[in-house]
Amino acid sequence: MHDFKYKNSGLYAEDVPVKKIAGKVGTPLYIYSHKTFLRHFDAYRNAFDGQPHTICFALKANSNSAILRLLAKKGCGADVVSGGELYLALKAGIPARKIVYAGVGKTEEEIIQGLKARILMFNIESSDEMMAINRIAGSLKMKAPIALRVNPDIDPETHPYISTGLKESKFGIPIGEALENYKLARKLPNLEILGIHKHIGSQITTIRPFVDALQKVILLAETLKSHGIEIQHLNMGGGLGIPYNDEHPPHPEELSKAILPLLKDCSFNLILEPGRSIAGNAGIFVTRVLYLKKYPQKEFVIVDGGMNDLLRPSLYNAFHNVLPVRKNSRKKVLTDIVGPICESGDFFAKNREVNRLSQGDLVAVMSAGAYGFTMSSNYNSRPRVAEVLVKGSEFFVVREREKYKDLTKGTKIPEFLK
Ligand code: LLP
Repeated sequence: MHDFKYKNSGLYAEDVPVKKIAGKVGTPLYIYSHKTFLRHFDAYRNAFDGQPHTICFALKANSNSAILRLLAKKGCGADVVSGGELYLALKAGIPARKIVYAGVGKTEEEIIQGLKARILMFNIESSDEMMAINRIAGSLKMKAPIALRVNPDIDPETHPYISTGLKESKFGIPIGEALENYKLARKLPNLEILGIHKHIGSQITTIRPFVDALQKVILLAETLKSHGIEIQHLNMGGGLGIPYNDEHPPHPEELSKAILPLLKDCSFNLILEPGRSIAGNAGIFVTRVLYLKKYPQKEFVIVDGGMNDLLRPSLYNAFHNVLPVRKNSRKKVLTDIVGPICESGDFFAKNREVNRLSQGDLVAVMSAGAYGFTMSSNYNSRPRVAEVLVKGSEFFVVREREKYKDLTKGTKIPEFLK
């Protein structure tokens, strides 16, 4: 569900015509809906109401400071995977006690940063990392709050690049080795065991993998208990899918209905780390048609946005609906909607039937609020685009478009070249 709808043939973001925003801010740009963000967050909160829980929004999906502030004000926590994300979460006002820190390659500086901030816990992904966190916490005379990320070896039936819970994945500790790792953690003087973490993948569109994985993890918690290791927090990760095209992923309510009964005899605080299901359909990417190239078999529509701005179609061959910002009744034609980057993989849609577009038309690439801006880059030395947040009939630029001078920021010409 989202709040980007047509009114009299024009696409609106809540109550603001997309055309108006593009006219003011220029293209390409991202537009987010305040209302959709809140509705998606509330859907989780209401669904898990009956269970002590913490919703930790995965910053990797969208880390714009205004979005984080909006979620922070609703009581949302954060799932971070870098010092940069930790910095942004804290800066946006997300309390440290609601921040969990995952990732297979935390550096010493990042671990110190997390310890000093007093985050809720580190999700540890290997025994090497466990030793490092123990050592660093000791040197600061602190105890590090931890969970072990276990890999339950469950197939989430999603794209291989975003599937993380299979045993051949680089993530987490194989569930079969979890007990010995927890025992090791217990022996280390500067660690405090608080939880278990798992995350099996992203864009999961059925309930089954969540249930299967959780059952394995609950079993592990029971085994740990029988060895005298008590878990307070059970972190089930993120991964709930969204409709990009004709998928029908479960609503958080359905997820909670399937999951909460499994937890009824446990006294865990449940942690959830949704990213895409909160941000994905809360944002669109708007780009303008520059040129058309017509061949007998199809047309290329060349737009001003590129794979550097929105990478998902190029990287995962991901489907994003592409809608005209002004509906037209021109003839339907088979088109490739492509960007200006010097790569054949630079496209938003391939062999898509659309009403013929013309130069100057605006198009909206839908479902772009998650893993859109956060995965953007300056490739081809293109300044990063602007981001706008719409609230009712108002809109706010929440990130300025980069300028050319930003492209040289931090670079230095050595003396010998001057
Ligand atoms: N927790 C952990 C430990 C994760 O690794 C992820 C995502 C999440 C939570 C959030 O998952 P979500 O609810 O958003 O599915 N760039 C890819 C997605 C990569 C996801 C990586 N991890 C894409 O554009 O599809």
